[in-house]
Amino acid sequence: MKTLTFDNGDQMPVLGLGTFKSQPGDVYKAVKDAVRLGYRHIDCAYFYGNEPEIGQALTEAFQAGIASREQMWITSKLWNSFHDPADVPKGLEKTLADLNLDYLDLYLMHWPVAIKSSVHFPETAEDMIPLAEMPIRETWRAMETLVDQGVCRHIGVSNFSIVKLKALLEASRCKPEVNQVELHPYLQQPALVDFCRKHKIYLTAYSPLGSPDRPARARAAGEPVLMEDPTIKALAGKHGVAPAQILLSWIIARGASVIPKSVNPQRLEQNLAAVDLALSREDLLEIGKLNRDRRYYTGGVWTMEGSPYTMANLWDE
Ligand code: A2P
Repeated sequence: MKTLTFDNGDQMPVLGLGTFKSQPGDVYKAVKDAVRLGYRHIDCAYFYGNEPEIGQALTEAFQAGIASREQMWITSKLWNSFHDPADVPKGLEKTLADLNLDYLDLYLMHWPVAIKSSVHFPETAEDMIPLAEMPIRETWRAMETLVDQGVCRHIGVSNFSIVKLKALLEASRCKPEVNQVELHPYLQQPALVDFCRKHKIYLTAYSPLGSPDRPARARAAGEPVLMEDPTIKALAGKHGVAPAQILLSWIIARGASVIPKSVNPQRLEQNLAAVDLALSREDLLEIGKLNRDRRYYTGGVWTMEGSPYTMANLWDE
């Protein structure tokens, strides 16, 4: 498996299993199948509500000798309700207990958005906390302490704009080593890709397949379906592979890692095989023309009426 190498020599496999939207009843088997098939990178989050089942599958895979803990790269994410520096260690403890691990390879701040600690998912503006009251750098400082303690090997962020990355780079002792963002041919984010390359911040692409199973709150009428894009389908035909494999290979060719979600063994295998697919320069140029600056996950859930968060200050666009 190809890897991305961190400053300290640690290596993250370029393709991992995404677990957002994988139901607790399905994710146990998906993780067991994935590890058996050769996946060595699992992307998790407290918010996904399925870390206990993932933990059970990992524990059993370790016990059966299919993979060792050291061979696996496990990422999880600090949820928005744990941004208070005093709550950051609690967020990690819960995740580690659920995953039955004693350290994470990578811990990400899930969103540059803070919500009240009593709230799991905000319904009204009252549930939100402005960043002026709960600054990102304070949350980050508490995450840096987790690295000092050895309970997180690496820390990073998710859904961060260039503006927010710059501010964090200026204010931090440990730089964010990863920014996990939505990235696919309809949302190519060239400026962010360039900025991260310059600052040696790795990008991890979420929703690489266009997230066809995303929740109703993240859907809009008439949205284009990425896996049905004519150019992607034509390239799939040319290479004799599935459209999903073209999409995954394109991301890896851009130097990012990618975390397609599947609970289906055939698709898990297909996605893993995309790591060995080489697209030509012409193929990459063709895909480069598909950009529509289109987010499937707009972050609109944080910008309800009266919220301190707006689309403009969330994405700095
Ligand atoms: P399933 O879990 O039934 O395999 P994303 O990673 O962009 O969020 O996309 C996940 C969605 O894409 C899920 O609905 C998943 O369904 C589906 N999917 C995953 N891998 C493939 C594939 N190789 N071909 C087609 N659909 C896929």
